[in-house]
Amino acid sequence: MNTRTDEIADGIFRISTCVPDVAPGGFTFNQFLVRADQPLLFHTGPRRMFPLVADAIARVLPLSTLRWIAFGHVEADECGSMNEFLAAAPHAEVAHGAVGCMVSLDDLCVRPPRKLLDGEVIDLGGKRVRHIDTPHVPHGWEGRVLFEETTSTLFCGDLFTHAGDGPAVTGDDIVGPALAAEDMFRATALTTTTAPTIRGLAALEPRTLALMHGSSTRTGCADALHRLADAYAARVAGR
Ligand SMILES: [Fe+2]
Ligand SMILES: [Fe+2]
Repeated sequence: MNTRTDEIADGIFRISTCVPDVAPGGFTFNQFLVRADQPLLFHTGPRRMFPLVADAIARVLPLSTLRWIAFGHVEADECGSMNEFLAAAPHAEVAHGAVGCMVSLDDLCVRPPRKLLDGEVIDLGGKRVRHIDTPHVPHGWEGRVLFEETTSTLFCGDLFTHAGDGPAVTGDDIVGPALAAEDMFRATALTTTTAPTIRGLAALEPRTLALMHGSSTRTGCADALHRLADAYAARVAGR
């Protein structure tokens, strides 16, 4: 497997590893490193990918200086190696919403996680990340996203998941591929709150959507969120 790193916004690095067998054309697992006085990693990757991700981070900044470990929800690809990173970076803390800490992370983390209120901001020094609770969007009671305010980058986790090993940043439509992947994986918790939650993210007017699986985009971000919300609303309504 080949791991590549691209700076997709000022000081925001996408670390991407394509695994060939997951889907036709392969399937990417992406982590995002925010370079700041207090560096933050969004998604750790699964435990078996730890050496690849750690090596990629070390090419940008010393691994031991990682201060924050964050992710969208509690699954192996999101946070499988959080304890490996807590061991490698002695001042690092996992930061997540209260539900995720109460249900899973207070028990799973080798050091206590930092509990964040909905809307709470962590000033990283040069970058600022806002925690936003998105329960069950795209899945998981503890679901959340993170919004980096200085670059207007939305770390949207599994939202817009699509197959293939495309460029780090695409100008192509990401909604069609996301709906094709949804037909294949059925990964999204489709409820009456799915579309309103996603429309709330569109109101942030992000300039970059940083996707965990697939290419990120800087093209029509709010519009893409509205179109994804519309498509999910139609599916919930049985249309
Ligand atoms: Fe997930
Ligand atoms: Fe994921």
